[in-house]
Amino acid sequence: MEVVITETAAEAATLSADAIEGLLQRRPDAVLGLATGSSPLGVYRDLALRVSHGSSSLARARAFMLDEYVGLPVDHPQRYRNVIDRELVTQVDIDPANVYGPDGNAEDLTAACVAYEEAIAAAGGVDLQIVGIGTDGHIAFNEPGSSLASRTRIKTLTRQTRSDNARFFGDDVGAVPQHCLTQGIATIMDARHVVLLAAGRGKGEAVHQVVEGPISAMWPATALQMHPHVTVIVDLAAASRLQLAAYYKDTYEAKPDWQGF
Ligand code: GLP
Repeated sequence: MEVVITETAAEAATLSADAIEGLLQRRPDAVLGLATGSSPLGVYRDLALRVSHGSSSLARARAFMLDEYVGLPVDHPQRYRNVIDRELVTQVDIDPANVYGPDGNAEDLTAACVAYEEAIAAAGGVDLQIVGIGTDGHIAFNEPGSSLASRTRIKTLTRQTRSDNARFFGDDVGAVPQHCLTQGIATIMDARHVVLLAAGRGKGEAVHQVVEGPISAMWPATALQMHPHVTVIVDLAAASRLQLAAYYKDTYEAKPDWQGF
């Protein structure tokens, strides 16, 4: 696990976009894993700028979303597919038909989850997965207690997550759906490279647990410690609880130029 501590969240976004741009240069038809929430928004804005300048193109890329609320009307602005369309798909040159998400309105939700796993596998798996992290250590919507071997499935959101996400629903916790479909921890672990982004003091404890805590379903993102290629990019505030922060800074400063992410 590589930990990169940046002065600002904007710098973290630039480094993540660099990683995506590098991947797309090597593999124009790469499969990206997309997260929602506020953490990746800077990355999406940065990518949009690169596409408009012609330095990057997602024209041949494919993308899979991490998760989706269950039961939000198709045109609801907070339906994750609509969020991704607004924040990324319409801002870059990716073909919307090549962007997939779990179907939170499917009649048979279990079958939709199985189909989603099959679609990811049929695409050859995710090359680079962007993830944020919840204050309780969830990734995607894998809440505390999630099996570390889980696959795409329905989950019930915790009160904490619903209250964290109420800001997107006019501060009305009751308007945040109780259920979601989410890639499982094992699904995320199949991605070839995972880039975890976190900013702000509120994420400090979760970041500490993910990087330095014991692996536990209580902090589901800690499973990433078992992944061979994870880059954790955090701003100073989100890094505030890291015990080995000085070591991570030394390591990054001394990183050989050829190494990349
Ligand atoms: C939601 C999403 C997660 C995201 C988390 C953190 O729960 N399902 O994928 O990581 O929010 O959100 P934010 O980045 O806004 O802090």
